[in-house]
Amino acid sequence: MSRIVMGIETSCDETGVGIVEIADGQAPRLLADEVASSVEQHARFGGVVPEVASRAHLEAMEPMVRRACATAGMALGELDAIAVTAGPGLAGALLVGVAAAKAYSAALDVPLYGVNHLAGHVAVDTLEHGPLPRPCLSLLVSGGHTQLLRVDDVASGITELGSTVDDAAGEAYDKVARVLGLPYPGGPPIDKAARDGDPDAIAFPRGMTGPSDAAFDFSFSGLKTAVARWVEAAERRGETIPVGDVCASFQEAVADVLTAKAVSAALRTGVDTLVISGGVAANSRLAALARQRCAEAGVELRVPRPRLCTDNGAMIAALGAHVVAAGGKPSGLDFSPDPALPV
Ligand code: KG4
Ligand code: ZN
Repeated sequence: MSRIVMGIETSCDETGVGIVEIADGQAPRLLADEVASSVEQHARFGGVVPEVASRAHLEAMEPMVRRACATAGMALGELDAIAVTAGPGLAGALLVGVAAAKAYSAALDVPLYGVNHLAGHVAVDTLEHGPLPRPCLSLLVSGGHTQLLRVDDVASGITELGSTVDDAAGEAYDKVARVLGLPYPGGPPIDKAARDGDPDAIAFPRGMTGPSDAAFDFSFSGLKTAVARWVEAAERRGETIPVGDVCASFQEAVADVLTAKAVSAALRTGVDTLVISGGVAANSRLAALARQRCAEAGVELRVPRPRLCTDNGAMIAALGAHVVAAGGKPSGLDFSPDPALPV
């Protein structure tokens, strides 16, 4: 028997609606993945403005649902279940998605599942590479999160091995971009500028790698400050900032720490599959270094395509499909999102 699940994602600045089909014993099949982003409306503020994001979700929701159904070649009435991001994320943004999901669930008389955004970033890999090995490790790197997770079951068995103690990796990218006068979000322009730079030009610090630091925690605040100080000092001396070298050296420091800790976690826990996801997983240097270090350590690396790494509805649909297939309990129509929902 096959079932069709729609996923709705509104935790930050992307309104995502995805549709997947699951058949017994098979990985979910992606039928539609529509995303509207309000990122341009936030660009001049250098970060997401919650109120602006909420309004944008409200405007984009119904058109995205309609477009997803058209892409999947189906009517709304053919849906068997609806999954929605219950958290973590921006409170007002989450509320728009949850309210919409409740309305569709009630109108169509199909069950509603509130699911975890972070678990969605892991579950999305099943759309590209099939069922996840159990257990596997996940390095989740986005604008809001930097976590190393052990995944025994993507819906009900995720344990945090470590996380950032300050800034998320993507946040560091966005802040460094601002220092260099590059546009928001900072990941893509830094990635591009780094191609012309020397990763060894400047020795930026590797946070949380000292002998007394927690093995699987991260810190990017000191790195961000070091880049800002370096740029300020060069400006004071009246020098032209070597943007390519700064970007390449910063990017190298981030990729070095992320991959070293993830591979070390794999070796220490004996779990030999690593999934890297979240917006920063789209980073070219992170992918290359992860490939190299995983190959050396005998760890299988899975990285979903960039489109699936950033926030989208397909990841929520994929996770919802997993919950439906596992016979999970639907959420009541009275459930509320939790902006601080733990993994
Ligand atoms: O997962 P995501 O779309 O949204 C959150 O849940 O945060 O991640 C967005 C983050 C931003 O901080 C952005 O700068 C970063 O991902 N990012 C990148 C790249 N593309 C996006 N960071 C490094 N390199 C990239 N190519
Ligand atoms: Zn995300």
